[in-house]
Amino acid sequence: MSKVTEINHPLILHKLAFIRNKETGSKDFRQLVSEVAMLMAYEVTRDLPTENVQIETPICTATCKMLAGKKLAVVPILRAGLGMVDGILNLIPAAKVGHVGLYRDEETLQPVEYFCKLPQDIAEREVIVVDPMLATGGSAADALTMLKNRGAKYLKLMCLIASPEGIKMVKEAHPDVDIFVAQIDEKLNEHGYIVPGLGDAGDRLFGTK
Ligand code: PRP
Ligand code: URA
Repeated sequence: MSKVTEINHPLILHKLAFIRNKETGSKDFRQLVSEVAMLMAYEVTRDLPTENVQIETPICTATCKMLAGKKLAVVPILRAGLGMVDGILNLIPAAKVGHVGLYRDEETLQPVEYFCKLPQDIAEREVIVVDPMLATGGSAADALTMLKNRGAKYLKLMCLIASPEGIKMVKEAHPDVDIFVAQIDEKLNEHGYIVPGLGDAGDRLFGTK
């Protein structure tokens, strides 16, 4: 079964409070989303394997640890996931980036696919799928299926805010995928928005409403 980690760190919660505030404009919203993604990346990569390497310091030979194992890929769900990519790449500059395009039909709340472009060796990479919002869970579950259909095997999902309903949906559809969220909110409203949430992440990031 998927492991769900609510990161709940004081620095992240502080920044999330600004992100949630309706008075926060696009410029600050973008900056804060990127910062929270960077802080979350620290936790999401905690289990990466390391290997011993011998390093010559100015004083002597030291046995140090360096990353070993699979290379990483970051896959944002367009559009709003784009806001998390740079923050993660600050910590993991060698990661490749794929893109999955999905939008949620406003009437049916069902995800509609419109784009998928992935690193060609995605099957060998550990993939971190990113989207600020896990609401009904439809978009994330669909994105994970799209990735699996193209060969991806080692997947994690990282979201800023999740509803209990969205977590349940992804856990059931993809029990092999661990989920990392900064904070789990109370519920969804009748329009499928997370309560209290932050509103429409894509519109707030890109200033489209
Ligand atoms: C938002 C968000 C998620 C999705 C979550 O994207 O970024 O992708 O909704 O909702 P769900 O869990 O109910 O599927 P949206 O469809 O608004 O597209 P956008 O990022 O292009 O604005
Ligand atoms: N998409 C968003 O951007 N926000 C929500 O609360 C739900 C879906």
